[in-house]
Amino acid sequence: MAVGIFDSGLGGLTVLDAAQTRLPDVDFLYFGDSAHAPYGVRDADDVYNLTRAAVQHLWDRGCDLVILACNTASAAALRRMQEEGLPDGKRVLGVFVPLIEALTERQWGDNSPPREVAVKHVALFATPATVASRAFQRELAFRAIGVDVEAQACGGVVDAIEEGDSILAEALVRSHVDALKRKMPEPQAAILGCTHYPLMQDAFKKALGSEVKVFSQAELVAESLADYLGRHPNMLGSGQAGFLTTGDAARVSDRATQLLRRQITFEAA
Ligand code: DGL
Repeated sequence: MAVGIFDSGLGGLTVLDAAQTRLPDVDFLYFGDSAHAPYGVRDADDVYNLTRAAVQHLWDRGCDLVILACNTASAAALRRMQEEGLPDGKRVLGVFVPLIEALTERQWGDNSPPREVAVKHVALFATPATVASRAFQRELAFRAIGVDVEAQACGGVVDAIEEGDSILAEALVRSHVDALKRKMPEPQAAILGCTHYPLMQDAFKKALGSEVKVFSQAELVAESLADYLGRHPNMLGSGQAGFLTTGDAARVSDRATQLLRRQITFEAA
């Protein structure tokens, strides 16, 4: 049975790629909602409705577990979907918690009360919708005390990546990092709180400087998925992957193949 991986577009491929490397025997089914990307400029209801429909699609295709490999969707839809109740045997997980557990030096799934942690000044880079939701700060407050978070809404970066305009994406990253540093001159750590941003990780690292520790989600989510599947071994398969898109399958396949530097073939969802 395949694990579903969902993103608004191509960003979740960073999570899929890390998950395939970490879990070579697991089958994955990727769903990119490219027809509606970017999500980061939409309101919360809109993101919820699109995410709900995509997750339903993956459940209908037999994925009992779906990872929202999209912070914007995790921020707007995860809690709401869980509170409304999930169908029997179906699970949906987001990408915030593994990141925050790593930042706060916790074991996966450690839900003990919040405590002081080493890192005190954190820069958060995310989409405008994720920043507006304050979901990251909320999840952090459950686990850590005394951490100062400065958030930068990185308008335009996802569009530039989806369009394949890496020059524009790099210029936008530099300008968003500059804007963040005007508000917080010396962050100790930076969170790339959008699954598209690992594709621009070098640009973020260069603009931030070597003294800033950059946390990026792909490997962290893959590691926490490995921990989850270790406790749910019925999900092992044979390492197959399928790719679905609501966009133009040929165009999305070309972009994905360029980004992951291996052949990726999408089909119409
Ligand atoms: N990859 C999505 C995220 O992690 C991007 C959202 C968008 O489509 O704007 O937030």
